[in-house]
Amino acid sequence: MKVLIVGSGGREHAIAASVAKSSKVDEIYCAPGNAGIGMIAQCVPIGAMEFDKIVAFAKEKEIDLTIVGMDDPLVGGLVDELEAAGLRVFGPRKNAAILEGSKAFSKDLMKKYNIPTASYENFDNAKDAEAYLEKAKFPIVLKADGLALGKGVLICKDLEEAKEGVKSIMLDKKFGSAGNQMVIEEFMTGREVSVLSFVDGKTIKTMTSAQDHKRAMDGDQGLNTGGMGTFSPSPFYTEEVDEFCKKYIYQPTVDAMAAEGREFKGIIFFGLMLTEAGPKVLEYNARFGDPEAQVVLPRMKNDIVEVAEACIDGKLDEIDLQFEDNAAVCVVLASEGYPVNYEKGYAIHGLEAFEGKEDYYCFHAGTKKTEEGIVTNGGRVLGITAKGRNLKEARANAYEAADWVTFENKYMRSDIGKAIEEV
Ligand code: AMP
Ligand code: GLY
Repeated sequence: MKVLIVGSGGREHAIAASVAKSSKVDEIYCAPGNAGIGMIAQCVPIGAMEFDKIVAFAKEKEIDLTIVGMDDPLVGGLVDELEAAGLRVFGPRKNAAILEGSKAFSKDLMKKYNIPTASYENFDNAKDAEAYLEKAKFPIVLKADGLALGKGVLICKDLEEAKEGVKSIMLDKKFGSAGNQMVIEEFMTGREVSVLSFVDGKTIKTMTSAQDHKRAMDGDQGLNTGGMGTFSPSPFYTEEVDEFCKKYIYQPTVDAMAAEGREFKGIIFFGLMLTEAGPKVLEYNARFGDPEAQVVLPRMKNDIVEVAEACIDGKLDEIDLQFEDNAAVCVVLASEGYPVNYEKGYAIHGLEAFEGKEDYYCFHAGTKKTEEGIVTNGGRVLGITAKGRNLKEARANAYEAADWVTFENKYMRSDIGKAIEEV
């Protein structure tokens, strides 16, 4: 089989590495990919939003399966265009990717189908939002409706901050058209867990749990980022929590989408908050998490291509999804200054240390191949994943491997997975 992956981050590298293990696959392509993906796939210089070019390429190469990794092309309808051209593709159509593409939609869906989430109101103008805030309890959470690179969420401690937030989202359009609508919701406290799942329109099978570290600095300080590291499984995701979520969150979400005429096939990522009142949905994503994929996929025993095809064909019930009984930790190596200002173009040394080492992975996120070698090309540069028999061992291994690689301005958090010590 020939497989095409759409995207260019650490998540797509993890997907490509998983696809490369499939005995069914002969050739892997990635649009546009990155330097690391280029070691296991053929990268083609086509942007993830260049739909016409992607479709033309997939037809010309007779691609058997396209996997769309990123949110923007999913929400923009790339799956529909590939399908219209008679191609097989893994991911939700545009009318289902709205689950991630519009927070107002997803909140209304949860309300309508009694899926536990924070209480909220949707707004389409700043005046009404401000009037609502006058009577609200603080802290409070403001969310731009649309996609905003994971940055469209503001947690405001008082009225003044919240009014400023409404202004930046709805009037100054800090997140562009993503701020045409806005959700204001109750602030929740608890531990966060990410649960990714395969969905075939009716059946849902969840993967092993993970936890992301979204803030830039140790101790969950600093700005929100795309994710500074992950661990899997989450020891806080107990069997009891799993049972609750299966009954009140996972299947109800899939059924709700089907009932709305928005059959969901692909990945649903449940961002959960384990509150005192039970698990609640923080957000839905319509794709693998980044960097959750970097700890979940290396632990998956199944052939990812087989599972993706079962989703497309509505036969996920025939798959016995299995994960290794171990743990993985991913430490993101970023450029100092991320997520605000950072320099790029520095040579990366030590990548060869990963060659031939089982259970250690160096997933590329922001890297570029030049004539002088591989250089940094983004805020998040690499995701260093290591497995271990348990979280403690995986964490020690990941931090050991994080030292194998060096580049100017290298920055990482030192407390990824440290929370496990609380258990
Ligand atoms: P989201 O993009 O919706 O996942 O939000 C980004 C981050 O903001 C989440 O991972 C949480 O840490 C935080 N967050 C979002 N919604 C809430 C909420 N209702 N209460 C507390 N924290 C939240
Ligand atoms: N790690 C969070 C996300 O992928 O949105």
